Amino acid sequence: MDPIDASAPFPDGFWWGTATAGHQIEGGNDASNWWAWEQLGLVEDGSTSGRACDYWGRWPEDHQLIEDLGHNAFRLGIEWSRIEPAPGAFDEEAIDIYSRILADLQARGIRVCLTLNHWVLPNWLAERGGWCARDALTRWERFLCRVVPVLAPFVDTWVTLNEPMVPVLAGYLAGLHPPGRRNPWDAAKVFRRLLAAHAVAYDLVHDLVPAAPDGGPTLVGYAAAYQWVEPFHGDGWRRPVEKVIGSVVSHVSYGAWDRAVLTGRVPLPFGRGERVPGLRGSVDFVGVNYYMRVSVRLHPAALLNVASAEFDCPEGIETTEMGWQIYPPGFRLALNHVWETFRKPIFVTENGCSDSGDEVRRRYLVTHLAQVRAAIADGCDIRGYLQWTLMDNFEWREGFAKKFGLVEVDHTDPDLVRRPRPSAELYRRIIEANAVTPEVVAEFAPGALDAWR
Ligand code: FCB
Repeated sequence: MDPIDASAPFPDGFWWGTATAGHQIEGGNDASNWWAWEQLGLVEDGSTSGRACDYWGRWPEDHQLIEDLGHNAFRLGIEWSRIEPAPGAFDEEAIDIYSRILADLQARGIRVCLTLNHWVLPNWLAERGGWCARDALTRWERFLCRVVPVLAPFVDTWVTLNEPMVPVLAGYLAGLHPPGRRNPWDAAKVFRRLLAAHAVAYDLVHDLVPAAPDGGPTLVGYAAAYQWVEPFHGDGWRRPVEKVIGSVVSHVSYGAWDRAVLTGRVPLPFGRGERVPGLRGSVDFVGVNYYMRVSVRLHPAALLNVASAEFDCPEGIETTEMGWQIYPPGFRLALNHVWETFRKPIFVTENGCSDSGDEVRRRYLVTHLAQVRAAIADGCDIRGYLQWTLMDNFEWREGFAKKFGLVEVDHTDPDLVRRPRPSAELYRRIIEANAVTPEVVAEFAPGALDAWR
């Protein structure tokens, strides 16, 4: 691959901002399945989302902050359970608040990327089987018909589903997210349901929204997690085996979903080629969530067992406070992979790192942005970058213990004061220059780019 010119400007009109999810920041999302799950004490630090960041009460202040930090885009989600807390009972006030939130962003010149579902379901639906419920898709459609036309005047891009493989794998196979199931048949069923849910949402938004607010085409896509999967060993006999296992890992974690959207059919191991109506080609852009490389390591002692492979971090590679490998070149590779797979515009819908000290985050930010710039130079049509995330928030399984924010929030502080970290200023300066300039790197993350030319 060509060497990186990290300081080259980004394209004109590039989207710069952060990504968030309703449940993680709003607070009081108490009619949802995640809320119910938290009450069972299943979050690692014992916390519950509770008031989260109280974005629901403080959005004007947060939007001012976003503006002060120089962002021109914001990704946020709507919470189905807040809008429809009981079956068929829509909360007009909640819909009105969402409209006001989005209208305020628009009035500030901040482009909106709206996520229609970021994993969380109304608890009434979860109790009937969640995405496995017989009427899940008709309920979903009815919910969308109610909200999409109201919110459409303020939405620049639509993300139907966030990381659909997470509910499939963490919720139904590993049992780590609600509903805590470990059943491969259910996992496969949810995979098929989510494909259908995406296809339904894609069609419906196109039917109801003839154009984006700026008069351009309506853009609908999904956001998927793309880890860069590689063998742990650089050479030797284990490498080819690790490669094979790695291709299974990437197929299961994102490849199968992408294949399904491209072909309109459900691939193995989630199905046997069944056609999903409306699915084929149902993507106007791809949302790329990239955080890490995953290295597949084979342990010879357990060679006859699939579990003989595990994820391990090669020596000399730094990890974040989540234990995730920091591997910037994987980002460029993943972006090229997505571009080659779809040849559709790409938005980076998430990328970031958990770091309470903020020193790692500054290096992470410049090194990963340099890779985005390189991918653009490679020919990928990348339209924007949304950092995960604006402020420290409720991080699902890890609760409040993990700190992904450009802005620090102490969740024990009764006032939940927002304190921008140095990386927020670093990001502001990059946005202002529309480039990762040598000056800003020297000031905020000296030497960071040297390791990843
Ligand atoms: C992604 C999720 C997002 C956040 C980050 C850290 O997988 O989409 O909500 O939890 O990880």
